[in-house]
Amino acid sequence: MTRGVLLFGAESSAAEDVVDAARDLGVSVHLATHPEVYDRYTDALKKKLAGTVFTDFRSPWTALEELELYCTTHGICGVLVGWEFLSPLATRLASRLGLPGHDADRADAVRNKRDMADLFGKYAVPSPWCIAATSLDAAVAGISAGRIAFPLVVKPAENAGSVGVAVIDSLDELPEAFKRAQRWSHEFPYGIALDTTVLVQEYLDGPEFSIETVAFEGAFDHLAITQKFTTGGGICEETGHTVPAQLDSAAQTSILDVVEQGLTALGVRNGVAHTELKVTPAGPRIIEVGARPPGGHIMKVVEHATGVSEARGYVQAAIGLRPDTRPLRTGAAAIRFISTAKHGVFNGLSGAHPVRGVVALQSYAAPGDRIGNDYERFTRIGHVIVRASSSAEANQLADDVVAGISVDLEN
Ligand SMILES: Nc1ncnc2c1ncn2[C@@H]1O[C@H](COP(=O)(O)OP(=O)(O)OP(=O)(O)O)[C@@H](O)[C@H]1O
Ligand SMILES: [Mg+2]
Repeated sequence: MTRGVLLFGAESSAAEDVVDAARDLGVSVHLATHPEVYDRYTDALKKKLAGTVFTDFRSPWTALEELELYCTTHGICGVLVGWEFLSPLATRLASRLGLPGHDADRADAVRNKRDMADLFGKYAVPSPWCIAATSLDAAVAGISAGRIAFPLVVKPAENAGSVGVAVIDSLDELPEAFKRAQRWSHEFPYGIALDTTVLVQEYLDGPEFSIETVAFEGAFDHLAITQKFTTGGGICEETGHTVPAQLDSAAQTSILDVVEQGLTALGVRNGVAHTELKVTPAGPRIIEVGARPPGGHIMKVVEHATGVSEARGYVQAAIGLRPDTRPLRTGAAAIRFISTAKHGVFNGLSGAHPVRGVVALQSYAAPGDRIGNDYERFTRIGHVIVRASSSAEANQLADDVVAGISVDLEN
């Protein structure tokens, strides 16, 4: 029997990269999902799978038992996360099977921001002041007792994609923000019940970065510090990412030191971690950590810049092999999203011409698709990835290419 890994869901932009990396290593990929979700996967992805196991993630303990049985009868020697909401269950399964993974006792804390804040508090990890409230009255009382100055961030304990995250400048704005943070009681597409606790946090001021780490036997290898670009304003929407972030070595060291404090507090041991952090006037402070591959195609950007495949390192760490993390080059790469604030029917992209340095130009929408929703200001229609010899050049090129592209919509 060939070695196999079990992938929990394939909803992230990184999932197919992870599947390809596993196959490249001669490891077959089995997918855990729901039947109706499987039906919507592309044929290209389905063809790459050696097996599929259907379960019901809404009943996590039953799912664990079913998946444990599947793994023991199918030669599974590693567990991977393809959808961030499933990372606690993946950690628990790896632990049950005695496979490489993270600390199962802290499995929820790499997803649930309330548990994460508790561990950050316990281990004094630099992070925002935070209270958790299950009612508006409790939030008001917590803010008054904490005497923290506005602006404050209000967000759900357990969502993703910035859904329900808001910045408020006064107590008057709290009821609306609180309601919005509690609006999503279940995740999509699996229908997993979400913790509807609301967090109120101190607003961290400063540039934002994310850090890609491969963990192996509790030691951390940081592949990249990525600079995040946003639309501006309080809570901003991502416009792109650049690797490497333009930082001096003292700043890099202080960021990585804080990241390691966070990963250690959360029990991250074998796999990958995506840490989001802001460098405030008082130093780097962590916004969140996920024990899963990054979104936003960051893995591809890291690979274009450094030659290191985070996906490959992830599979290796998950099956107990020392990950290949040595950089092969010292270039730069950037991704910029093609987005629109308009709503309508997609006709196509115009102005998208091949240019030297552009390594990918992808549209997520097909002609006829309806664009626009009520929870985001901007809808992502596609992306451009560029490679260059420095971050400054990569930024310039990526921004120029995206500025020349327009999204054609009809009402
Ligand atoms: N305490 C904070 N101070 C300043 N900005 C914050 C804070 N919390 C969140 N943000 C901003 O809002 C963004 C989204 O917040 P967060 O990461 O907690 O939510 P999320 O749902 O996981 O979103 P995403 O999937 O986009 O990372 C952050 O990347 C950051 O830009
Ligand atoms: Mg986040």
